[in-house]
Amino acid sequence: MDYFLKTRKDFLNFFKSKGHTVVPSSSLVPDDPSVLLTTAGMQQFKRYYTGELNPESDFGSHRATSLQKCFRTSDIEEVGDDTHLTFFEMMGNFSFGPVGSDDPTDAETGGYFKRSAIVWAWEFLTNVLELAPERLWVTVFEGDGDTPKDHEAYAVWKNEVGIPQERIFWGKRADNFWGPTGNQGPCGPTTEIYIAPTPEHARQGKGVEVWNVVFNEYYATAGADGAFKYKKVDSPGIDTGMGFERLLATLEGAANVYETSAFVPIVSAVRQAAAGISERDIHILADHIRASSFLIADGIVPSNKEAGYVLRRLLRKIIAVRITNDIHADVFQIGYEAVTKMFAGIYPAVGEAEKILGVWREEQGKFEVSIAKGLRELESLKTAALTGNAAFGLYQTYGLPKELTLEFAKKTSPDFENEFAAEEKKHQDTSRAGAQKKFGGHGLVLDTGELKAGNEEELSRVIRMHTATHLLQWALRTVLGEGVHQMGSDINPERLRFDFNFDRKLTSEEIARVADLSNEVVKKDLPVYYQEMPKEQALSSGALSFFKQKYPDVVKVYSIGSQSSGGVVSAEFCGGPHVEHTGTIGEIRIIKEEAVGKGVRRIRASVV
Ligand code: SER
Repeated sequence: MDYFLKTRKDFLNFFKSKGHTVVPSSSLVPDDPSVLLTTAGMQQFKRYYTGELNPESDFGSHRATSLQKCFRTSDIEEVGDDTHLTFFEMMGNFSFGPVGSDDPTDAETGGYFKRSAIVWAWEFLTNVLELAPERLWVTVFEGDGDTPKDHEAYAVWKNEVGIPQERIFWGKRADNFWGPTGNQGPCGPTTEIYIAPTPEHARQGKGVEVWNVVFNEYYATAGADGAFKYKKVDSPGIDTGMGFERLLATLEGAANVYETSAFVPIVSAVRQAAAGISERDIHILADHIRASSFLIADGIVPSNKEAGYVLRRLLRKIIAVRITNDIHADVFQIGYEAVTKMFAGIYPAVGEAEKILGVWREEQGKFEVSIAKGLRELESLKTAALTGNAAFGLYQTYGLPKELTLEFAKKTSPDFENEFAAEEKKHQDTSRAGAQKKFGGHGLVLDTGELKAGNEEELSRVIRMHTATHLLQWALRTVLGEGVHQMGSDINPERLRFDFNFDRKLTSEEIARVADLSNEVVKKDLPVYYQEMPKEQALSSGALSFFKQKYPDVVKVYSIGSQSSGGVVSAEFCGGPHVEHTGTIGEIRIIKEEAVGKGVRRIRASVV
């Protein structure tokens, strides 16, 4: 069955039958100057939530539904694995207060709230998509501070939908509270719907999140101390989002998003044009060709800043994959033809072949000229001693694909690859802050170099993962010995990456032990706090410092655990920010352990 067309139609028709106006996707270029690209369905409706615009006069209803083009750059390096995409579509239904009727059997056009939002989401998944109810499970906000437990949503799930209690889980703020974006705005608890592969998995709370239903019932303002104060609003709204490709993967039983009907024609075209390249490269090409076609269609051209830089980066990656794999066919054009067959009927601008291929060819031409210069330069250096540092300089100046630089360089120094890697690391450290600002996707609210977050929701995740990083370092030293210390750290809303010195692969027992030790501390809910002190005093206290960093004369030392809570577990030189209690971190899951260089290992982990 062609789920690609059917599911889009089913979704919009379903909500149309419930009094919603079908609103076309807005452009990937938002009209809100504080964000770079559109990242969520609610973005085009922001001013209806705040009451600045009147939905009745624009849509003839307080209810809207859409399939929104979205673009997220936060984890562009992970694209090509099973779940990450840069460009994706998000299905959503929206209610702009005031609440008229919250009776789900009533298809009028006033605002609605929790009852209707939950009952309809369930009805759509189980009646329209015919997903087995036993495979679904949900989370509801457990409450904290000024924002109480969401008994209302819990009761709807339990009494009106009738999900057995064993499949309704309470969730923490980090997962079950959305917004505000920026330092004030509408926000509220969420309920999230998950699909498990089997009923048994559903009872254990395992599976993928498919639908985020946000109840915008508060307005938050930041107080003088930076903490949010929440006030109930008179006119609450609904904002839901369901990732289209991820839902297709579930419906079609596909192993990953690239095997769904949203991607198969594009992936097949790429595979034919580029026979023999790795599956990951095929996925990267498919994602990037599709994504850049949409960006160009919405009027973005390659440049060195903001959205233009995002596009340039995608196109140059396509060229780099093409050159390093020696792909002769014009893989962009072939991929684009598949994209246009699928999408031009839905988004006519994607069908403007001349414009889209024109931008591609021009960028390719520019990049090739630069590459050719770089290669000539490399060639002329071949006879002289070419160090890793010098090769990195060329790679940097001409934007040569890295694999190509390494391949063409005559490696005259024995330590060539290490020099190259060290130079690259140095460059990344110094340019990260600036570059990440440009490339952050939606205006960073936090960028310490190590931690990056684009909005408040992401901020709370990176803070939880930051404290998790301290726990992991402590656990690694406990399991592998005190010789282990940090070599690098990078945290974004999806995952943390922690590099440390160690000379072999960790066994699965060691990895499990590290995760268990860390999670034991999470469960103890120990306090996390900092003290400022002179650097010398901090050093002699035994607090861990990161040797690559230069510290000021007075430093902050973050500790986990106190004498009265049974002893200090970890103490590190650190600027923060951190959670206040380890309990708010949630479960720490180690995703992967790998080598990144000689004697350096990397752990990727996440919190749930
Ligand atoms: N705004 C919420 C999200 O992006 C729900 O649509 O998940």
